[in-house]
Amino acid sequence: MQLKLFESEAAIAAAVSGILIRQVQTKPASVLGFATGSSPVKTYDAMVQAYQNGLVSFRDVVTFNLDEYCGLSKTDETSYYAFMQSHLFGRADFQQKNIHFLDGNAVHAEAACAAYRCEIAAAGGIDIQLLGIGTNGHIGFNEPSDSFSDGPFQVHLAQSTKNANGKYFKDGAMPDTALTMGIGDILRARKLLLIATGESKAKAIRAMVKGEVTPLCPASVLQTHSDVTVFLDAQSASLLAEEDLWQRN
Ligand code: F6R
Repeated sequence: MQLKLFESEAAIAAAVSGILIRQVQTKPASVLGFATGSSPVKTYDAMVQAYQNGLVSFRDVVTFNLDEYCGLSKTDETSYYAFMQSHLFGRADFQQKNIHFLDGNAVHAEAACAAYRCEIAAAGGIDIQLLGIGTNGHIGFNEPSDSFSDGPFQVHLAQSTKNANGKYFKDGAMPDTALTMGIGDILRARKLLLIATGESKAKAIRAMVKGEVTPLCPASVLQTHSDVTVFLDAQSASLLAEEDLWQRN
């Protein structure tokens, strides 16, 4: 696991978007896995900027998002699909036919999850998966539990996740469940980039980097992947020792 410390969120966005853009310039039909939430927003802005400056085209990029709330249609402004449209897909030349999402509105969640797993495999797997991390150590919506799940599944969101994300929903209308890629899906991606900023992430980052590999801190499983880069600011890295950052850079 490579840990990188940055001075600002803007510097993280420049570094992460640079990796994603170079990937697409080298392989225009790259398969990219995306996350939602506040962590990747500036990275998406930088990708849009690069597109507008004519440095990159995303028209052949195939995308898979990590997760989607249950019970929301794509047109619901609080859905993760809508989030991706407004922050990235709708601002650049991504093609709808290349965009893949778990169907949180599916009548049969299990079938939707199985279909997503097949779609990822049919695309040849994910070249680069972007991740954030929850304050409880979740990645995607893999909440702390007693086992790691392999493929996509329906999850009951943890109270800390509802506390963190409730602000995006009117009148506490946040869904209790979501569909998420499993830990196995995330580990099968060839390269992983994780962004964490702010003090609220410091404990989870410490557990991810220094703790035992346990489903009680789902992100700790990233210790077992051979190509993970973690992008931190001073606050999220505040519970790591300086030598942790140096040794792993
Ligand atoms: C969302 C996702 C989540 C978020 C995490 C952090 O697609 O995968 O794991 O990355 O909840 O959210 P933010 O970035 O809002 O702190």
